[in-house]
Amino acid sequence: MKGGDEAQRVLALRGEYCIHNNYGVTLELVGAGTRVPLVTGGDVPYADLDCAASTPALVEVRDAIHSLLDWYSSVHRGAGFKSVVSTAAYEGARSAVRSFLGARPDDAVVFTRNTTDAMNLLAHALPEGCEVVAFETEHHANLLPWRRRPVTFLPPPHSAEAALDALSAALAGRATGERVVTIPGASNVTGELWPVREIVELAHAHGARVVLDAAQLAPHAPVDMAGTGVDYVAFSGHKLYAPFGAGVLAGRGDWLAGAEPLLAGGGAVELVTTSEVVWTGLPDRHEAGSPNVVGAVALAVACRTLEAAGMPFVAEREAALAHELVEGLRAIPGVELYTLWDPAEPRIGVVTFNLAGYHHGLLATVLSAEHGIGVRHGCFCAHPLVLHLLRVDARDAARLQDGVRAGRATLLPGAVRASLGVGSTPGDVRRLVEAVADIARRGPRWCYEPGGHRDEFRPVPDPRPLPDLPFPLAVAAREAP
Ligand SMILES: Cc1ncc(COP(=O)(O)O)c(C=O)c1O
Repeated sequence: MKGGDEAQRVLALRGEYCIHNNYGVTLELVGAGTRVPLVTGGDVPYADLDCAASTPALVEVRDAIHSLLDWYSSVHRGAGFKSVVSTAAYEGARSAVRSFLGARPDDAVVFTRNTTDAMNLLAHALPEGCEVVAFETEHHANLLPWRRRPVTFLPPPHSAEAALDALSAALAGRATGERVVTIPGASNVTGELWPVREIVELAHAHGARVVLDAAQLAPHAPVDMAGTGVDYVAFSGHKLYAPFGAGVLAGRGDWLAGAEPLLAGGGAVELVTTSEVVWTGLPDRHEAGSPNVVGAVALAVACRTLEAAGMPFVAEREAALAHELVEGLRAIPGVELYTLWDPAEPRIGVVTFNLAGYHHGLLATVLSAEHGIGVRHGCFCAHPLVLHLLRVDARDAARLQDGVRAGRATLLPGAVRASLGVGSTPGDVRRLVEAVADIARRGPRWCYEPGGHRDEFRPVPDPRPLPDLPFPLAVAAREAP
């Protein structure tokens, strides 16, 4: 290809892979348009429809980290000038996150590794005897940490109103001690947006606090802590275009200030003697160890960039694409779409489905190997919800559990999930719909066999070379428990 043609192609790709809003703000992702090999030969631009799992970095994030690295040094305890700059960058990041979340002035903003870390920290910090009310539909990060507390799990609600009714019944007449209600902002499996404001009103009327798992809300729609009154919010940078290992727990400071650190170590203390420790205040109390300044700055830059673009704009654009995707998939014979609530309810761009006659792992592998489309498959770390959606009854669930415990090669039920982000295009959506329709009509054009972990498949042979990169690459070997 001549230089001019190549420049045109790159420009066209850039046009396809960045979005522009009415204020002239552009959102562009690192690696957009990267070409990936197909088993059938040739290569195509990668269609990343796995944004609910992890997103690429925004170009602004990459550039900011590049600048930060020139000034990178220890934070908080260094006297050197670079330490002063790095510390200012770290604390500046906290302010940017606070603004993005619409936090109250007295809310604590604690940097964590991710949402899982944030939820475990909060579950640990609840006052003794605090009761938790949660739904069985939650991601494991918002399910398992609470099992260490007195917890009531409510069954999957069939609508937003049913969720409110179930909560109202669970909270009625039991106002003895502290209580929290924990909810998702949006489902990572079925995409529904939960009625946060109404749940907060209801919970507060019963004296309960509300924890918002915003892992799937923050990247897709506005989070407004002060406006909704939600008491705690957790989210992850790697799902918000800042994949540098930082997440956030933000919210009311009293319980956090009173709790012993979950992670004990340097930076979380005022004074240590051989027998005593005086823990420090928030937020350092819960940030023991050397802070992830790169991750925090990356997250802050992503927050600022999205805030400038306008989260309502991001949400609106994604809703339109999600609609196209749902309608396209729905029209394919053999496709079953899964939703918890009426499909017309407000949602983010997360669409979960199966194709009759295909194991979910096989379908996802064919989409990748023959079409260059990245999706996720399995149970999406929400086993109770997925088993409910797939109508797996208790007896079958017990059989599966026995098989897994005994280490048998048990193919788990599941589904395929396509999820959108700011880099998703109408072209990506079209490609997925056409690929699923093609597989439904003609079947795969390559051979596949079960391989890798429990419910994964692999092409046989797999002629796709891994790219030549300046670091070692190894294929993960995972053993059954
Ligand atoms: C709704 C929801 N909550 C929590 C998590 C956990 O996030 P992380 O793996 O970043 O801790 C996820 C991840 O997929 C999620 O989708």
